[in-house]
Amino acid sequence: MKKQSYEFEYEIYDDISQLAEADAALLTSARAVTGQAYAPYSRFNVGAAARLENGETVLGTNQENASYPVGICAERVLLGTAATQYPDIAISAMAISFNTSKEKSNHPISPCGMCRQSLLEYETRFKKPIRLIMGGMEGRVYIVQAARQLLPFAFTGDELMK
Ligand code: THU
Repeated sequence: MKKQSYEFEYEIYDDISQLAEADAALLTSARAVTGQAYAPYSRFNVGAAARLENGETVLGTNQENASYPVGICAERVLLGTAATQYPDIAISAMAISFNTSKEKSNHPISPCGMCRQSLLEYETRFKKPIRLIMGGMEGRVYIVQAARQLLPFAFTGDELMK
C-alpha cells in the first residue's frame, strides 16, 4: 500500500484593495451583478464575472426555480452564455461573489461541485486554466490558479473518447 497526498496553493488577500487592477475590476463586476440574481427561495444572490481572452467580460447570476433542482448557479449561467456568445474564446479568469440578507458577505464562497465539473469541462475544451477570484461583498479574497485544482480525481471526457 502506498499513500499519496494532493495539495494546491491559493492566494489569500485581506480585501479587494490588494488585488491587481484587472482582478479587482472583475470582482467589482461580480459583486455588482449579484443584484440581478433571481433567488427568491434561498435569498442567496450569487454573481459571477469572467474575463475572456479577447478582453470581453461575461456575467452570470443564479436563476432559481419553484422546482428547486431546476435552478442554475451563477457560474454555469455564465459559462453557457460565454460559450454561446464567444464559442471560440477561452475564459482567463472568473470572479465569484454573493450577497444575502441572512449573513454578512465578508468572506469568499467557492463554486459548488456541479459548477466545478462544468468549469473543468471548459478548461479542457479550451486547454486554458480559468483563474478563480472568490470574495464576498467585502473582506477576504481567495485566488486559485486553475479551477481544476478544486476537483481532484475529476471525471473527464478522456474516459468517453477511448
Ligand atoms: N449558488 C451559486 O449560484 N453558485 C455557487 O457557487 C453556490 C451556490 C446558488 C445556487 C442557489 O441558487 C443558491 O446559490 C443557494 O444555494
